[in-house]
Amino acid sequence: MSNILVVEDDEVFSQLLTMHLEDIGHTPLAAHDLSQARLHLKRMSPDAVLLDQQLPDGYGMDLLREIKADKDAPPVIMVTGVSDNALVIEAMKAGAYDFVRKPMDELELDTTLNNALRSHRLSRKVHAISQAADYEVDINQIVGKSPAITGLLKTIGSVAASQASVLITGESGTGKEVVARAIHHHSERSGLFLPVNCSAIVENLLESELFGHEKGSFTGAERSKPGKFELAADGTLFLDELGELPLNLQAKLLRVLQEGTFERVGGTETLHTSARIVTATNRDLESMVREGSFREDLYYRLNVVNLDLPPLRDRMEDLPLLVEHLLHKINRRLHAQVTNIAQAAWSRMQDYPWPGNVRELENILTRAAVLCRDDTITPDLLGIDTPASDQDAKTSADTGTGELELISLDALEERHIKQVLQYTRWHRGKACDILGISRPSLERRIKKYAFDES
Ligand SMILES: Nc1ncnc2c1ncn2[C@@H]1O[C@H](COP(=O)(O)OP(=O)(O)OP(=O)(O)O)[C@@H](O)[C@H]1O
Ligand SMILES: [Mg+2]
Repeated sequence: MSNILVVEDDEVFSQLLTMHLEDIGHTPLAAHDLSQARLHLKRMSPDAVLLDQQLPDGYGMDLLREIKADKDAPPVIMVTGVSDNALVIEAMKAGAYDFVRKPMDELELDTTLNNALRSHRLSRKVHAISQAADYEVDINQIVGKSPAITGLLKTIGSVAASQASVLITGESGTGKEVVARAIHHHSERSGLFLPVNCSAIVENLLESELFGHEKGSFTGAERSKPGKFELAADGTLFLDELGELPLNLQAKLLRVLQEGTFERVGGTETLHTSARIVTATNRDLESMVREGSFREDLYYRLNVVNLDLPPLRDRMEDLPLLVEHLLHKINRRLHAQVTNIAQAAWSRMQDYPWPGNVRELENILTRAAVLCRDDTITPDLLGIDTPASDQDAKTSADTGTGELELISLDALEERHIKQVLQYTRWHRGKACDILGISRPSLERRIKKYAFDES
């Protein structure tokens, strides 16, 4: 329920509007001219203002400018029968949230009003929380209160303590690693959480990474080394990008799952492990099974519990909470003070399909925070508005192959890193701080995208 100030001189229209607002659960307050509106503005601080242009003692535009002079001003929606198109432009320039023409469509007004209220609440809340010195960002926190996230939290709660293998699926950037860490955290296992990215290393090194090796078992193996299965004995082994695991290693993994035993590379002693196995992939393992590139028996062993993470576009109600959480994280990392999102930027974020999910949201907010001159993120800083990208995302979601998403995320990464490098004038240390990645990892990407310092 919100307080809405309705500034409208037409008695009948004013009554219709206030009745409608009451019907949808708000508390309206009517003003019939500018002076009455100014009085109300002083006494109550409305959450939104619906404002007519032609009023007995002046123009709505003048009041709009007065209201918008205040930094924490409520959103103002112009509702007017004036058919002057230049006025639409003027009003938007002066900071109106939106412009609705009379005769108005109630549904259109409801949607606009709801969006306006939501973005106003968000910017107020971000502001209030970032002022609180004791706000702690837990970077492992799973943020969201949509039904999908609530369901996910319940499943995590019920499987965490068991030994059951968990397969986490979902598009890139949906939070698969965050969920894997949460499972480990709530399992109360005393050991470590050890992630292994199956796509990051070549096959024979991956084998040694997982199972360890004996001295002299291959060139460069100067000392014996335990593998992640040994090190994670009382903990959790997180096999990320599982779809990239070569067939040969799939067979060895299956044996560990069936018997709990394995040998180091070049070793003869049979070792035991009781590590909890959590896996993740953005590939479609079922179709890989059909094509023969992923073992069916292993798939069933690993997929005892499947957590399928929803894409961000299917849980947009979580956007405000995520933005708030990520801004705290970013402010802390960049030592920045970005606390506000301009209403227009907020609307743009609500309309964007987020093909790269939460990771893309984090990247875009980070870039905006870097480029931001004061404490407010404006729409131009987001770099997300093309209908073309919208179309791409929809197509890629339809195909379900995930390939287009990977491409667009790569392209996004390339663009973002390039901007950060330009911003820091190629100061690699500063760029690493901003991007939150290590020096070798930055160097690898500079090479990968063939960036040129000149
Ligand atoms: N529900 C969430 N709450 C808070 N932060 C999240 C959430 N989901 C994702 N994130 C953040 O988004 C970023 C990407 O998440 P994560 O690395 O877990 O995604 P992923 O699914 O493993 O992506 P990829 O497939 O690209 O490896 C991280 O910085 C993470 O902290
Ligand atoms: Mg991941």
